[in-house]
Amino acid sequence: MAQVRHFRDADKCTVHTLFTNGMKDNTNALIWEAIKNVPGVKVSCLAVPTLALVGARSFRSSSGFTLLFTALAAAAVPVAVAVTLWSSLMDYVSHSLNDDLNNILDFYKHPSAFWVAELNGEVVGCTALQSHSADVAELRRMSVKAGMRRNGVAKMLGQTLIAHAKATGHKKVYLVTTSGQKPALALYKRLGWYETKVWQSHGLTFHRLELDLA
Ligand SMILES: CC(C)(COP(=O)(O)OP(=O)(O)OC[C@H]1O[C@@H](n2cnc3c(N)ncnc32)[C@H](O)[C@@H]1OP(=O)(O)O)[C@@H](O)C(=O)NCCC(=O)NCCS
Repeated sequence: MAQVRHFRDADKCTVHTLFTNGMKDNTNALIWEAIKNVPGVKVSCLAVPTLALVGARSFRSSSGFTLLFTALAAAAVPVAVAVTLWSSLMDYVSHSLNDDLNNILDFYKHPSAFWVAELNGEVVGCTALQSHSADVAELRRMSVKAGMRRNGVAKMLGQTLIAHAKATGHKKVYLVTTSGQKPALALYKRLGWYETKVWQSHGLTFHRLELDLA
């Protein structure tokens, strides 16, 4: 069974890998979600093949060429959305690795905290509590190694975080995730978080969840 302990500097590379791989594992779901959220993309999914087919059949006429060109232009929209989002996600990963994750012990000083889950000497999961005020803290950086998921590792990390947030007098722990991260949403709701706000940004649906400790 995995054990949860506080982060040590020697864990830094593994934590970077856990975070980067966790984000990469979500990339396809997030891109698909963004594509579905683009206005008109569902219509263009039907229109593109139809226009392309009709256009290709009468390619030599000017109207056929126009239809084919329109189909290609419409198909470019989801491709552009995917490329833009992928590049934003990679920017976010690289920013995070150079921000709090570059200086974990300093950034997550008490009453904040950073934990790892260890199994047979290997770090297989991590999460952090960032204290924003005496009352309010945020859950961040939850990630579990792909081959170790669905074994209760994140639940254990979450329970440790909740116990610490209570012990340090926080009354609320919030977090932000997206619709594309379905296992994460299920995990947080299982641990008692509830949704307080949903909004769209950069084609993604963001969810703010809160847990009351008072
Ligand atoms: C989200 C994540 C951390 C869950 O880690 P995990 O160790 O597999 O989760 P656990 O095994 O502790 O699951 C705890 C509960 O979460 C829910 N859950 C976790 N994964 C789930 C899945 N794939 N589908 C449905 N529910 C899931 C279940 O309710 C589960 O309880 P149960 O097994 O008793 O039903 C993991 O999938 C992950 O690292 N994902 C990539 C990174 C990420 O998205 N991080 C969150 C950033 S906001």
